[in-house]
Amino acid sequence: MSAHTFAGRGSLVPGQRPSDPAPDRAATHRHYLMCPPTYFAIAYAINPWMHPDDPDGAVDTDRAMAQWEELRRTYVALGHEVSLIDPAPGLPDMVFAANGAVVVDGKVFGSRFRHVERLPEAVRYVEWFKTNGMRHGVRDTYLPLALAEGEGDFLTTSSRILAGTGFRTDREAHRELAELVGRPVVSLELVDPRLYHLDTALAILDDETIAYFPRAFTPESQELLRGMYPDAILADHADAMVLGLNAVSDGRHVVLPVQAAGLIRQLTDRGFEPVTVDVSELRKSGGGPKCCTLEIRPSAGWTPTPAPDEDGSRG
Ligand code: ARG
Repeated sequence: MSAHTFAGRGSLVPGQRPSDPAPDRAATHRHYLMCPPTYFAIAYAINPWMHPDDPDGAVDTDRAMAQWEELRRTYVALGHEVSLIDPAPGLPDMVFAANGAVVVDGKVFGSRFRHVERLPEAVRYVEWFKTNGMRHGVRDTYLPLALAEGEGDFLTTSSRILAGTGFRTDREAHRELAELVGRPVVSLELVDPRLYHLDTALAILDDETIAYFPRAFTPESQELLRGMYPDAILADHADAMVLGLNAVSDGRHVVLPVQAAGLIRQLTDRGFEPVTVDVSELRKSGGGPKCCTLEIRPSAGWTPTPAPDEDGSRG
């Protein structure tokens, strides 16, 4: 399994440089936090993708690890920094780092999980930031009072934060985050249980451009999205059902599931560079590339200082 190349500008195999750069799309350097799927399993069902009793739904942990490692290498090949948090036995969903927090302007807004099975993950992510955050431009950690599942439901642009509700994160948490970071938070209501986190139904490509699957939202939320993003890329049902919108963009390269054929074409037409990965083992739990990725956004004006080594993180 490896990144594939598509016609036209195509996608980058890790390590490969673009031969035909899209001058209109600029990548910016990113810092991601990831958690290896060492203890990944389908041990319970908290979304319709998970079938703990079905042998066909069981995960091959070695394969999941290889797919996750390919994702990590893809980010590094694109020039991004990846930090790692230690996985914990008994927390099979901890690989989905996006749910651990959302970090805006150096402020960590931690999580309060809806399901008891995932509750202990929250403290591990906040502890990681308390220990390692300072040298990555993080200055503050906050635990919400309301239910909140991190970047699963909070997608950030420089002008606003799009916030999902309906399945996991409560509206009250949207207000808490707005107050903490002083940025407008727009609430969007999800309706399809298979697309239960905002990051399974909508992807931010850059500050002006998003992609989404309209039918994942209430009619009112669809109208809000049309008003804010009249030129958005609209994904079709097939792309949504392979979690194609669970994508990570640096403004130019868009890392997304190889199965999302229609979306890959649309991205290329709009001057983005799709970079495809296969994380089909993680999809058995309802996750994709974005779910495995928590972006660390340092506070404005912060500049990195070289770190000798890093507790709790490798690579
Ligand atoms: N099994 C996990 C859950 O249901 C998957 C989480 C996916 N994460 C995400 N950011 N969409 O909670």
